[in-house]
Amino acid sequence: MASKSSKLAGTVKAPGDKSISHRSLIFGGLAQGVTQIEGLLEGDDILATARAISAMGARVEKLGEGRWKVTGSGRLQSPIDIIDCGNAGTGVRLLMGAAAGFPLTADFTGDASLRKRPMKRVTGPLADMGATFIWKDQEDRLPLTVKGGNLSAIDYTQSVASAQVKSAILLAGLNAIGTTRITEPEKSRDHTERMLTAFGAKVDVQDMGEGWIISLEGGQSLTGTSVSVPGDPSSAAFPLAAALIVPGSEVTVENVMLNPLRTGLFDTWIDMGADLTISNRRMSGGEEVGDITARYSQLKGIVVPEMRAAAMIDEYPILAATAAFAEGRTVMRGIGEMRVKESDRIALMVAGLRACGVEVEEETEGFIVTGADSVRGGAVVESAHDHRIAMSHLVLGLAAEHPVSVLDPEMIATSFPGFVQLMNGLGGSVAAGKAA
Ligand code: S3P
Repeated sequence: MASKSSKLAGTVKAPGDKSISHRSLIFGGLAQGVTQIEGLLEGDDILATARAISAMGARVEKLGEGRWKVTGSGRLQSPIDIIDCGNAGTGVRLLMGAAAGFPLTADFTGDASLRKRPMKRVTGPLADMGATFIWKDQEDRLPLTVKGGNLSAIDYTQSVASAQVKSAILLAGLNAIGTTRITEPEKSRDHTERMLTAFGAKVDVQDMGEGWIISLEGGQSLTGTSVSVPGDPSSAAFPLAAALIVPGSEVTVENVMLNPLRTGLFDTWIDMGADLTISNRRMSGGEEVGDITARYSQLKGIVVPEMRAAAMIDEYPILAATAAFAEGRTVMRGIGEMRVKESDRIALMVAGLRACGVEVEEETEGFIVTGADSVRGGAVVESAHDHRIAMSHLVLGLAAEHPVSVLDPEMIATSFPGFVQLMNGLGGSVAAGKAA
């Protein structure tokens, strides 16, 4: 439960980036030799990926807080037991791509939320490359069995900008015959391309302006390396959002990754009039990072450019929470993908915000929030096993008139373990518990 707080103030460090944490374990498991990881996000999603890659033959050791060592043999093998990826769409989709490249059989499943998410977007192109997928229960949904090996490269054009689909195909392409080519009409996050290069693979990227073409020659092997995981902009968004909407606040989040394919939310907040400053820009682990300071701001509603959607797709829930305090309408469109994330995030944000007294219009591929000077709150919100829906409503509760509770708050640990303590350390009033 989150209650109206007086100002938030202080400096905190963002938890490790979820996308890069998954990849560091998976690529380390695929590589030959040792991969040393610093700053790994130790969230439930990532721990599930660590167990999965170890079940497929890599040696995975925790050396200290955020410090992990993965020793790979350059190949994956059939796991004995079914692999449970928990809540992690990125985990299961990338692991299926990696597994497809080897002559192995692996069963994958996940929690109730993950078993509702579409998988054909990944299994379709992987099957075109030569892998076999057997649906256990229902087509397009986990659980399923992957039979890999003997792949041929494909030329694939993405219909939606999805880094998960792109990454699964590229990982399979490492062990395919021929050159795998992916055309993205809109750019999705490029962590796989950058990290494969750091692991010694040759990835060719042809920039086409709005989109790009990524090519990778088959038969390449990866070599273990060191990975320093930068802070996650998607997690940094929550304390920064709280500072923007709780009067008198000033919060700095240090070490936030500033990859332009991830920072659409910060650009959007600045367009809405947010007092957001980025300092200490530097390079760390192949990515630009910086420290972001947010001060309480009277935000103004805007039409969020649809072109920005891929660079902030996970951030619309927290954007909507801040839009509830903005002057006028915040129009968020071209975001149908939000409906197939850890939950139907459009439906849940619409329901949760309405329960808190906020005016919201729902559209098929978007929603519009009309802000107000004060938000009533005073609701128990369904989060449907979705960490970002839970955190977004708790942040809203810090500035609402009456407390806001969320169901399934334990899901927050998938991406942001320590969220409650961090927010309270800044002066927020969040009570942990079954219905936080
Ligand atoms: C991710 C890609 C995005 C994002 C997810 C993480 C990744 O999904 O929503 O949280 O690490 O590649 P899509 O690729 O399906 O858009």
